[in-house]
Amino acid sequence: MPRGTFDVLPENAAQRERVEAEARQLLERAGYRRIETPTFEATELFARGVGSSTDIVRKEMYTFDDGGGRSVTLRPEGTAPVCRAYVEHGMHKLAQPVKLWYLSPFYRREAPQAGRFREFWQVGAEAIGSEDPAVDAELIVLLTELLESLQAREVVLRVGSLGAPATRREYRERLIAHLRSNEDRLAADVRERIDLNPLRAFDSDHAGTQEVMRDAPRLLDHLDDEDREHFARVRELLDDADVAYEVDPTLVRGLDYYTRTVFEFESRALGAQSGVGGGGRYDGLIEQLGGDPTPGCGWAAGVERMLLASGAQPAAPAPVDLFVAYAKDDRRALAFRLATDARRSGLSAQHELAGRSLKGQLKQAQRLGARWTAILGDEGASLKDMETGEQRVVDPDGLVAAVQRGERSL
Ligand code: HAM
Repeated sequence: MPRGTFDVLPENAAQRERVEAEARQLLERAGYRRIETPTFEATELFARGVGSSTDIVRKEMYTFDDGGGRSVTLRPEGTAPVCRAYVEHGMHKLAQPVKLWYLSPFYRREAPQAGRFREFWQVGAEAIGSEDPAVDAELIVLLTELLESLQAREVVLRVGSLGAPATRREYRERLIAHLRSNEDRLAADVRERIDLNPLRAFDSDHAGTQEVMRDAPRLLDHLDDEDREHFARVRELLDDADVAYEVDPTLVRGLDYYTRTVFEFESRALGAQSGVGGGGRYDGLIEQLGGDPTPGCGWAAGVERMLLASGAQPAAPAPVDLFVAYAKDDRRALAFRLATDARRSGLSAQHELAGRSLKGQLKQAQRLGARWTAILGDEGASLKDMETGEQRVVDPDGLVAAVQRGERSL
């Protein structure tokens, strides 16, 4: 049984650093600034923000008593906390929209499987304070570009619109009526949740349910004029930006706060857990969390899923400029000092730390891919060019400068 948690080993750290670097560059160029919120928050925030009928809140949260009678939860997602921070820090006073991004670990008690973990990382972006459909489109373009820059394979983008809450409520009644009139053909779990979350019926892989859903009313056909116009504008902007997408009239997301635009990026190169990122507009969330009515829109993408989708390979350690070896033990202190000096001068340098024989040290220098090896002996030092095998005597005090000269002349 996999644990659902993992260690990031050194050979995998570089790939993750690359995700961070690409995300930072792309998002900061578009005016997003980094925010980090705490790992745990009051349970109430997620119950209210994410929605008490969602799988996340019903069964996936790590919730515990903080010892003082308060219920806290390891954050299962980042949008509700970022919105809480927006309200708490009075960010409505800043120029709107406030554009924020994060890269953090999240926690969900899901059954672990390939690409699905109980502790996972997300890059997320949230733009709060503007209703402009250009915000939705810009966010979608940014995630498209992030996935492209990471060479994620076989990515498809699906977009939809959930409309305004009132439209959704009306539609919900219509859908519930449809499900009720076909109740005997539905899967048991869908039947049980008709009133709680009828939209999830579109996601069922039960054959009978799928048949019933084929004739179900579609929310996209029931949008009011403003919502239809908003969605049309988002699509126009995506077309202008040459972003390919499919309109998915049954796109539902596992969180309750969405209004209007929703979207999901999937990589067909992945197995069952193919969602690499997704998001949408959440125009009611800030108000629900106690702020003034404030629109918002954002996305989050799973770091591990993006790496799986990009087929990222483990990386070898970066090569070393200088390895300082010593022929005799009484040169150890000098080796230490020279390696330190070299690093202070900006070189990557290591010295012998395992008491190897000189032969063993030279082997170690080779293993590290050292460009130069200094060998400290009775007669001063000799510097070996590890590519040509050439060796020459140098004054230990001039060793760092000699390596720097050598590096420059390459
Ligand atoms: P989400 O769709 O629940 O949305 O998660 C976003 C992404 O996180 C998924 O597409 C997936 O790549 C990754 N992910 C989710 N659960 C797991 C897991 N158990 N293991 C590995 N990766 C996972 C949100 O979280 C929303 N807060 C997105 C958002 C931001 N909407 C508006 N703003």
